[in-house]
Amino acid sequence: MSASDSGHLPVLLEEVLESLAPRRGDVFIDATAGRGGHASAIAAAINPGRILLLDRDADNLRFALARVREIAPESQVDGVHCDFRTVAEIARKQGVSADIVLADLGISSNQLDDAHRGFAFQQDGPLDMRLDQSSAYSAADLIRDLRESDIADLIYNFGEDPFARLIARKVAQTRTHEPILTTAHLARLVREAYGSRARASRLHPATRTFMALRIAVNDELRALEDFLRSIAQAVRSTGDGWISSRARVAVISFHSLEDRQVKRTFAALADEGVVERVNRKPVVAGDSEVARNPRSRSAKLRTVVRLARKS
Ligand SMILES: C[S@@+](CC[C@H](N)C(=O)[O-])C[C@H]1O[C@@H](n2cnc3c(N)ncnc32)[C@H](O)[C@@H]1O
Repeated sequence: MSASDSGHLPVLLEEVLESLAPRRGDVFIDATAGRGGHASAIAAAINPGRILLLDRDADNLRFALARVREIAPESQVDGVHCDFRTVAEIARKQGVSADIVLADLGISSNQLDDAHRGFAFQQDGPLDMRLDQSSAYSAADLIRDLRESDIADLIYNFGEDPFARLIARKVAQTRTHEPILTTAHLARLVREAYGSRARASRLHPATRTFMALRIAVNDELRALEDFLRSIAQAVRSTGDGWISSRARVAVISFHSLEDRQVKRTFAALADEGVVERVNRKPVVAGDSEVARNPRSRSAKLRTVVRLARKS
């Protein structure tokens, strides 16, 4: 099992290692194990340690578990197929008090590149977009069931697409006579809704609509809100709970709405004196990383360190 089999390059890897400062024997929770890129680098640094990997995607979790177990054979490595919004409950059940918590949000490149998962419009596939393939509701269901105004709001709020109303109108008109079931079909409708404006657009016109649908299908912003609330409760509490007294917590986000949530939570905790921010400004990828891995262009890393309570 090697990095090249994984189909995903971890973003800001050096910066994550620097800000989380993994030490031998640490307890580490990777809330978004993905293909185990960050996790295996951290695991190698803490081995022998205790590692808990979480992911909503069962295939990714399996891959990450095998990769991390191989690189850290003396560590205890467990995996739980779950939404990270339940991180506190899972960590308590596993009897873990984490020194390091990492969340690298969104999707991995192998998920994006797999046409059957329906995240991308470059190849045709079912309009699916579920991170957890055992969950019930897909993007096609959402496009079928939502009111036109709700589709417009979703594309506007989550995708920040100025032509959201035109796209929603096109979708609503089309679905009265044919179901919208594939990525290529939806991408074509978005392009038609853009009309001649598509020529002025730097991005493919469907980019924002697809991102918005993915966020909605997987309830990504509320999952992040719940995750951050759990972190905040844990660091505000006295003593060690599921987060240890010397914990470092890092979140990598790719969307301004996600980064805003992380920034506000970490700023509030820093104002209360329960954490210290490792950097005031988010850490972003340098030109060479962006050239090597264009996905890193929008990545923002924010890290906090828990401060010991004065008693
Ligand atoms: C960007 S990838 C992580 C890549 C990983 N850091 C690596 O280096 O391989 C994000 C992963 O988080 C998972 N994910 C996204 N939202 C999640 C959530 N709410 N709960 C658990 N896993 C989630 C996705 O399924 C995906 O595998």
